[in-house]
Amino acid sequence: MSFVANKIFNPSGNDDAQTRTIIKGNTTGLFNLNNTKYAWAKSMYTIMIGNFRVPEKVSGLNEDSIQYKQDLTDGEKKAYDGILSFLIFLDSIQTSNLPNFAEYITAPEVQLLLAIQTYQEAIHSQSYATILETVVDAEKRDEIYYFRRENPILLERNTYIGQIYQDFIQNPNDENFFKWLIGNFLLEGLYFYNGFAFFDTLADHQKMKATDRMISYIRRDELTHVTMFTNILREIKKEFPDMRNEKLIYEMFSSAVDQEIKWGQHILGNNIIGMNEYTTEQYTKRLANNRLGVLWLSPLYPEITENPYQHLERLQDNNGEKTNFFESTVTNYTQSNAMQGTRDF
Ligand SMILES: [Fe+2]
Ligand SMILES: [Fe+2]
Repeated sequence: MSFVANKIFNPSGNDDAQTRTIIKGNTTGLFNLNNTKYAWAKSMYTIMIGNFRVPEKVSGLNEDSIQYKQDLTDGEKKAYDGILSFLIFLDSIQTSNLPNFAEYITAPEVQLLLAIQTYQEAIHSQSYATILETVVDAEKRDEIYYFRRENPILLERNTYIGQIYQDFIQNPNDENFFKWLIGNFLLEGLYFYNGFAFFDTLADHQKMKATDRMISYIRRDELTHVTMFTNILREIKKEFPDMRNEKLIYEMFSSAVDQEIKWGQHILGNNIIGMNEYTTEQYTKRLANNRLGVLWLSPLYPEITENPYQHLERLQDNNGEKTNFFESTVTNYTQSNAMQGTRDF
């Protein structure tokens, strides 16, 4: 079934919150945010807007620059550069992708979140620019930005997600939309996290702490993004059950996990104290199980139950609360009553 983008100006549309649907509605294009349907969206707005911060105000990058040159091992440098390159790609493509996605959402309260998210993704790009400006020289900066030109494993990953997004834009139908949605969910919920664990591991060893602080701000935002896509997917299950293709979800999860492990093992290898090929696999599969759980699906890897990076959670400051993001944050975010008017979750 083909899928039509919202009209920008549609005065004969219907904004009634009772009959509103998250997609395929007939919104007028007017942002009446006093008349909303999705309580979780209002709660998430409060959290997302409260996450505002200025990347240039993160201090300590000069020390990171000295450590990068003097203290990092070759293995740590390789991982630092490669992981930043991958993260830079993820945030770049989201900034371009999200406005396209928002054109198909027919709830202004959710479009509002997507607009904030787009802004945050662009700020993430500025965060990487701020790190690279101080920590490495101009030649290395360029190498990091365009690392995919010389690294086929990275290019393969970038291509996988880029193609999913491009396919929907070129051929907007229900199946491609659903694929697009799962692509977003995987990007926000799975792809970032071995990279985050790497920066936390370095910081745990007293290395590159300013970079890790910058990354922790980014993670705080990414948690809201994966939660928003969780909520959108849950609404679609309720409102458009025929669109939800669980076989496709599992297939896409399986591919994403394989790629994440392959990339993680390639870029981290066994070169980082506290991380190795086994922990990369274990962490990725554990995270995939957790993400499937919030979509009300059973685990793909039931044999994996341990989080090998449990000890890093004390470094994860999510909205001022020391929370167990890995286990509970997504669930808590979606309990809108607990969220109303508060930043605690
Ligand atoms: Fe981001
Ligand atoms: Fe994001």
